[in-house]
Amino acid sequence: MGICLATTSGKGGTGKSTVSCGLSIAFSKMGKRVLLVDMDEGLRCLDLLLGVDHKVVFDLSDVLGGAPISNATYTLPQNQLISVVPAPSEVGNISADALSAFAKKVKEVFDVVIFDFPAGLDFSLYSSIGKDTQFLTICNPDPVSVRDAAAVCARLPQTERDARLIINRFDAEYIKKKIYNNIDDIIDISGFRLLGLVPQSSELMLLSVTHSVHKKSKAFKALFRIAKRLCGESVKLPKIKKI
Ligand SMILES: Nc1ncnc2c1ncn2[C@@H]1O[C@H](COP(=O)(O)OP(=O)(O)O)[C@@H](O)[C@H]1O
Ligand SMILES: [Mg+2]
Repeated sequence: MGICLATTSGKGGTGKSTVSCGLSIAFSKMGKRVLLVDMDEGLRCLDLLLGVDHKVVFDLSDVLGGAPISNATYTLPQNQLISVVPAPSEVGNISADALSAFAKKVKEVFDVVIFDFPAGLDFSLYSSIGKDTQFLTICNPDPVSVRDAAAVCARLPQTERDARLIINRFDAEYIKKKIYNNIDDIIDISGFRLLGLVPQSSELMLLSVTHSVHKKSKAFKALFRIAKRLCGESVKLPKIKKI
């Protein structure tokens, strides 16, 4: 069976969409076919981050309304293993039942499906994408964002409680300046189990321009470690300085 992932965060801007795209690139380097589904109605961005925005005619709302999935599936010209279904341009077009049927179908075709949700505490659509979904809460290392993650952890429905934490935009300065003694502090405050850390990275910041992440970069290596863990491999966290 394939892998189904979904992103969450309390506030916006923690890097859910960037990490989703980065993970899709990491999984594709393992030879896996990846589908990214943009769930951010009215605020779509995955098409732009991955450079297929100029091609978009159909979106998730068309597919949920009965159009063939292939109509709204845009494969990256630079990486045939990654495809994107853009979010509806208007709000209020995602029905839970149609989403559930869509999720079932795409999981049969792709090795990895990533649902990139908007920020916030509205979890109403989470159960529609299937019980096999691994939820990923993305936070930044600053105390406000970590407290947000704790708020998500406290409110997530019981079934999604085994959600894992990705600390994005990590910078060793947080430890050097004693804002935290170690990574464990962040994990304890958030209430989640840690899946991995992604560094603050100019490459990821420029993703909407370059649409790629270099294989030798620290960001790619961090994303690749996370992808491996999601495949069930045990991969150790490197020393803080090396993240
Ligand atoms: N690891 C990172 N390093 C540097 N910039 C990042 C990183 N992750 C995200 N960003 C930047 O943070 C901003 C918000 O990211 P985005 O993925 O859109 O967040 P979200 O989907 O959670 O709203 C974007 O400008 C993005 O380029
Ligand atoms: Mg986003």
